[in-house]
Amino acid sequence: MTNRKKWAVYPGLLALAAAAILLSAVSGGSTPQGRAPEQPIRFPHNPHVVALQMNCLYCHNSANKSPDPGLPAVNTCMGCHTVIGPRRPDGTERPELAKLQQFATRNQPIPWVRIHKVPDYVQFPHMRHVNAGVTCQTCHGQVQEMLPVYQQESLNMGWCVNCHVQRQVRYDCSVCHY
Ligand code: HEC
Ligand code: HEC
Ligand code: HEC
Ligand code: HEC
Ligand code: HEC
Repeated sequence: MTNRKKWAVYPGLLALAAAAILLSAVSGGSTPQGRAPEQPIRFPHNPHVVALQMNCLYCHNSANKSPDPGLPAVNTCMGCHTVIGPRRPDGTERPELAKLQQFATRNQPIPWVRIHKVPDYVQFPHMRHVNAGVTCQTCHGQVQEMLPVYQQESLNMGWCVNCHVQRQVRYDCSVCHY
């Protein structure tokens, strides 16, 4: 490398380092372990996943196709809950299903509160993990037993890198930051 080229590289490196520090200061880190925000409807995974044996992808249907798994539209719920409504056959009420019905009749999306989130400067492609056979529960815990759903893992950099080292997946900086 000529001297001139060598010196031309430093401002670039400095800018990169400054950008990394700025990014982390502005965007902060991942959502914290244990996070369990109150949801607009107390949605129980258990009867759906355990009793009805529904596949996770029925509701989170882009987990194997895109970076984000997505949440189900109200219509996905109403396929069953127009029949299984807010009033049980014995006349007793199911208040959570009354709320669901209200969102459906008002044609309003349910404002679910996002639980797991990595900062914007981190790339996390769900489909790569799901298609490599890493189960949802490895990263999210026993969601089917949780009410409400909470964040089981730290989602910090060490957590990601540890698994990549164990499973011999690339872990140079540019895999997750670009
Ligand atoms: C396997 C994915 C992965 C790899 C590889 C990775 N990182 Fe990260 N990195 C993350 C995640 C996730 C976070 C956010 C974690 C948090 O702050 O909770 C993060 C956060 C950061 C932050 C912000 C730290 C803070 O405290 O706010 C910096 C700076 C950073 N990484 C630099 C690097 C560098 C340099 C490398 C290469 C040596 C690297 N990362 C490799 C996933 C990764
Ligand atoms: C009948 C639809 C349905 C099925 C089936 C379903 N989920 Fe969900 N899931 C939801 C809804 C609705 C939410 C948002 C409400 C909440 O967080 O409690 C959610 C939230 C989640 C979240 C938290 C998302 C966030 O904001 O970070 C995870 C993780 C999750 N589900 C994993 C799973 C897994 C794993 C399975 C299979 C074992 C599964 N889900 C099956 C409907 C479903
Ligand atoms: C495949 C059919 C099916 C789909 C799709 C479905 N559910 Fe259910 N859901 C059920 C059944 C069956 C029960 C159990 C009813 C019972 O215990 O009597 C149930 C129970 C519930 C309950 C608990 C009711 C109570 O208080 O006892 C809530 C809340 C609920 N579902 C919300 C939802 C939401 C929100 C969605 C969409 C994200 C959804 N369901 C999608 C079939 C379904
Ligand atoms: C390798 C770990 C890992 C696996 C495997 C995994 N997830 Fe996630 N999940 C995460 C992380 C990390 C986030 C936060 C991602 C972000 O902020 O971009 C997340 C976020 C989510 C969200 C909230 C994001 C949204 O789109 O609303 C849902 C829902 C979810 N995961 C469901 C699932 C389901 C269902 C499976 C299995 C089919 C699964 N995840 C497999 C780590 C994982
Ligand atoms: C439990 C294990 C596990 C955890 C935890 C995990 N990963 Fe991965 N990751 C994998 C596996 C396995 C692959 C390889 C998929 C393949 O070969 O296609 C992968 C692939 C990736 C890729 C694509 C790599 C490429 O070569 O293009 C990215 C980006 C990535 N992970 C980011 C993350 C981030 C960010 C986190 C933390 C928020 C994380 N991963 C946590 C197991 C994990």
